[in-house]
Amino acid sequence: MKFLLPYYRKYTTSLIWGGILVIILTLMIFPSPFLTRHILDEVIPEKKLSELFFMIIAVLIILSVQRIVSYYQGLIFYRINSKIIFDIRIDMLRAINNITAEQHLLYGSGYLMSRINDDTDRLHSLFADSMIDIIKDVLTLIFGCMAIFYLHWKLALTTIVLLPLFLFTSSHFSKKIKLKSTIFYENNSQCSRTLEECLNSSILQKLFGRLNYNIIRYYKISAKSYYSDIDLGKTALKNGLITGFISGLLPLIVIGFGGYEIINNRLTLGGLIAFNSFTGYLFGPTNRLVNINVTMQSAIVALNRIKEIFRIPKDNDSTYKNIIRNIESLELNDVVFFYETNKIILNKISFQIYKGQKIGICGGSGGGKSTLFKILTGLYLPTDGKIKINGMELTDDSILSLRKHIAIVDQEPFLFDDSIYNNIAFGKAGATEEEILKMAQKARVDEFVKQLPDGYETQTGIKGGLLSVGQKQRIALARALLKQPKILLLDEATSAIDPISEEFIVNTIHNLPSDMIIIIVAHRLTTIKNCDNILVLNEGRIVENGTHYELMKLQGLYCSMNNI
Ligand SMILES: Nc1ncnc2c1ncn2[C@@H]1O[C@H](COP(=O)(O)OP(=O)(O)OP(=O)(O)O)[C@@H](O)[C@H]1O
Ligand SMILES: [Mg+2]
Repeated sequence: MKFLLPYYRKYTTSLIWGGILVIILTLMIFPSPFLTRHILDEVIPEKKLSELFFMIIAVLIILSVQRIVSYYQGLIFYRINSKIIFDIRIDMLRAINNITAEQHLLYGSGYLMSRINDDTDRLHSLFADSMIDIIKDVLTLIFGCMAIFYLHWKLALTTIVLLPLFLFTSSHFSKKIKLKSTIFYENNSQCSRTLEECLNSSILQKLFGRLNYNIIRYYKISAKSYYSDIDLGKTALKNGLITGFISGLLPLIVIGFGGYEIINNRLTLGGLIAFNSFTGYLFGPTNRLVNINVTMQSAIVALNRIKEIFRIPKDNDSTYKNIIRNIESLELNDVVFFYETNKIILNKISFQIYKGQKIGICGGSGGGKSTLFKILTGLYLPTDGKIKINGMELTDDSILSLRKHIAIVDQEPFLFDDSIYNNIAFGKAGATEEEILKMAQKARVDEFVKQLPDGYETQTGIKGGLLSVGQKQRIALARALLKQPKILLLDEATSAIDPISEEFIVNTIHNLPSDMIIIIVAHRLTTIKNCDNILVLNEGRIVENGTHYELMKLQGLYCSMNNI
């Protein structure tokens, strides 16, 4: 609950207003039963017709005011709760944005999405249904107790004997429900994870003629969720069964003992009816409190799951410090890297590159080229060895500042489901149209955009799915150039672009401002031929290194790759 306090604090004024309305509402349940008793015991027997009329009007007014107050009270709390869910969702996304690349892969997007959507949805029941009802019910319970004791203390004593029974049942079931909802929610999130993958792979399975593949996968995981749901439901129903039975005993006691008291002239019929209304106020809330406890248990589980998201290891989230202002050199000293699998991916990588230079990297598939870029951008930290910028070791603190100067074009460029224009504009906040169009020209986006009816406003589809790979690569390149980075990393950035356009782009890259550091990973060696230095990476090691001519002379791996 401590977790929610800062969220509620923002709405203190509304909460106070809501609280006042709750108290008014609770107090308003009292006049009616007393008026009813008065009507039954005095007004009707004494045939006071006009008083009867006024009494009915009074009850009607009370009822109307009660409903209106209840509407406003409901509205105030509903607004606060929806806004809090909204705030929590934004904060969760902020937290997920900061989790390490490693953790992101581990959890998967579908799973994290379900955590943001479903778990916060469940919180809604904790706020909207429960919190206010708890306050209202506790107040009603206290006042109701006072009223029944006032009306007939002996009968009151007999009825409240059932309360401890209620409380015992409730605590017994709440523990069970908490455990079962934890299992159910987890299974549900796993379902979302699988579902996301199923939807993403629907075309693949069509092409392979395996239409049932995803259904079977999803069926298996959904079945798990289904059984845990049934298990949870069963426990909740059992809880209802027992508490329902206990509350069913109530009228028996009231009518039995109350009737006995009436027969002995110690209670009037009006008194019994008023008493009965109050026991409704007494056991109604108790019953709800017990059920709320059930809903609350699952909401508390959801709350704990939300808190977990905030505890996933994050990238260094210290505030941004402008440590690296300019980039003169980049140096790797014996960098070693393992993913969690413990297989060595980068083995003592060392090289230096200075402002204005270009390095080309080539080598076999799985050699560690993309991994090297993940380390240069600080997505992963080296297991051993050092990265130095301007001779200073790269630390947690300087990574954010380094990223300001780096732009990367990924091997599988990601595009937003937005216009081509906005996808390029993403590269630099506040970029002008002129800058954007200039970069689009440099990366040859212009060439294919001209042929599109909507031009730069053409939508790219989810993950840029409405474009060809080569088109996506050009957009990604334009986006990176727009950033005007000091270090440009190109990971197979032109692999899917036709040779003529590629040559144009490679020329553009070679004519970029001379104070840039450019590292180009390419399988097509013409792309890196003119680099100042070429590294051949094989199984995590630099096996050859030199200019194109030096490497060709060496007659080694590079030379053989060139001759294919
Ligand atoms: N997140 C990961 N967890 C564990 N292992 C990984 C992960 N990503 C990549 N690897 C492994 O690291 C090795 C290097 O992968 P990397 O993507 O760096 O190769 P690459 O040189 O870029 O290959 P390609 O030329 O095919 O793009 C591979 O053996 C791969 O299986
Ligand atoms: Mg790669």
